[in-house]
Amino acid sequence: MANSLTAIILAAGEGTRMNSKLPKVLHAVAGEPMIDYALQNAEALKPQKIYVVVGAKSDEVIRYVGKRAVSVIQKERLGTGHAVQQVMPFLKSLKGNVVILYGDACLTRSQTILALRQFHSVQDGEAALLSAQVENPFGYGRVIRDADGTVERIVEEKDASEDERAVDEVNAGLYIFKANRLVEALKKLKANNAKKEYYLTDTIHYLLNQGGKVHALMVSDASEVLGVNDRNQLAQAHRVLNLRRIEEHQREGVTFLNPETVEIGAEVAIGQDVIIEGNVYLSGKTVIGEGSRIQSGSRLLSARLGKGVVVRSSRITESQLGDGSDAGPNAHIRGGSVLDKHVHVGTNAELKNAHIATGSKVGHFSYVGDAQLGKDVNVGAGCVFANYDGKNKHQTKVGDKVFLGSNSTLVAPVVIGKGAVVGAGAVVTKNVAPAVTVVGVPAQVFRKKK
Ligand code: UD1
Ligand code: CA
Repeated sequence: MANSLTAIILAAGEGTRMNSKLPKVLHAVAGEPMIDYALQNAEALKPQKIYVVVGAKSDEVIRYVGKRAVSVIQKERLGTGHAVQQVMPFLKSLKGNVVILYGDACLTRSQTILALRQFHSVQDGEAALLSAQVENPFGYGRVIRDADGTVERIVEEKDASEDERAVDEVNAGLYIFKANRLVEALKKLKANNAKKEYYLTDTIHYLLNQGGKVHALMVSDASEVLGVNDRNQLAQAHRVLNLRRIEEHQREGVTFLNPETVEIGAEVAIGQDVIIEGNVYLSGKTVIGEGSRIQSGSRLLSARLGKGVVVRSSRITESQLGDGSDAGPNAHIRGGSVLDKHVHVGTNAELKNAHIATGSKVGHFSYVGDAQLGKDVNVGAGCVFANYDGKNKHQTKVGDKVFLGSNSTLVAPVVIGKGAVVGAGAVVTKNVAPAVTVVGVPAQVFRKKK
């Protein structure tokens, strides 16, 4: 097939400048490991195969890549050209095109990669590459063009003359080659440069010398060519990706009072007219319904909020809050909690694996764990659901309209009947029948409603 496509991701670099025990491409940028962006971009091309070149000690990278690509090991790190050479045995019979991506370039948009392929097919050269004009080209390979603007070669920082270093058009590290010409050029690579490495960029020079044509597509958004080599660039990449996500939400009608301080995961969904204050972290599969307000200092991980929910400086993990509910300040709603509509969770309250029906209130300083609460229940300040006996966790069930007095303790497993009242400071160790009032330690029936 003439138009068949293979993608190669280079990810075997040691990432020396990161000074880390973790392989560079596994460092997270805006919530995802760098390599994930390269994989997504390669996948967007729908290639026949994706190869990832990994280093000798890259078990973790191979595990992360999994079945999304074929991992090929580069035992010695001898340069980007040498890395691609490791895939050569698989490329021999190739007819179509090969796209090469660098694992540390996580800001290139998928649409840009698709545009490069289109550009290559129109120009019909031996290869095409992506470039950009950047404010500070230091450290990048420079794209050197002749007087007519034709690409001549790419020169690395360490090999560049003073004039060449002044060039601000840099090589992004994203290429598409005619497969047979790439295979041919790779065979000719020599490591005669400042770093004594086999540079992939030298294949460009070779192909041009052979009378071939190579074109560079210049992308207008310079952030797309950022390569992450150190922790500073990691922070830059994180900021750029995060702001791109925020801008997308802004277009969809979300207000950010202090966008630079907000972090948003790729899968977060936010409804219209939601207001997000500063220092808010939204991650996982968080969903925020229309007209909600997330106050500063909140942290939501896979939280699902209905419409008009107010969260005040609180932490919500893998839980649901129904329409019109509110939490905090400083509430901690932990895994598996489901709050129906108009539930109020007060200051410093903690919930875990609790189902709370519509209209109930969980007051300040209380702990509700492993429990089911009916409608219109009032949980007084400092009320504790003692769900753990030192070995096992137990359930508590509280009926509709129950009133739990301040500082009361419910020792699970226990059932409190509908409309019952537990006096302040009571320690409930046995089930309470509907409509009775219990008081004391341990709690005893005090009166029964008529
Ligand atoms: C490279 C380019 C440079 C470009 C820049 C863009 C070369 C020679 N230089 O420089 O022109 O402007 O990227 O960010 O290609 N890798 C391997 N095996 C190796 C060496 C590198 O797999 O032996 C991988 C790295 O993991 C990385 C990528 O290739 O993902 C690029 O290598 P890196 O050392 O970061 O190259 P730069 O110096 O940034
Ligand atoms: Ca790099």
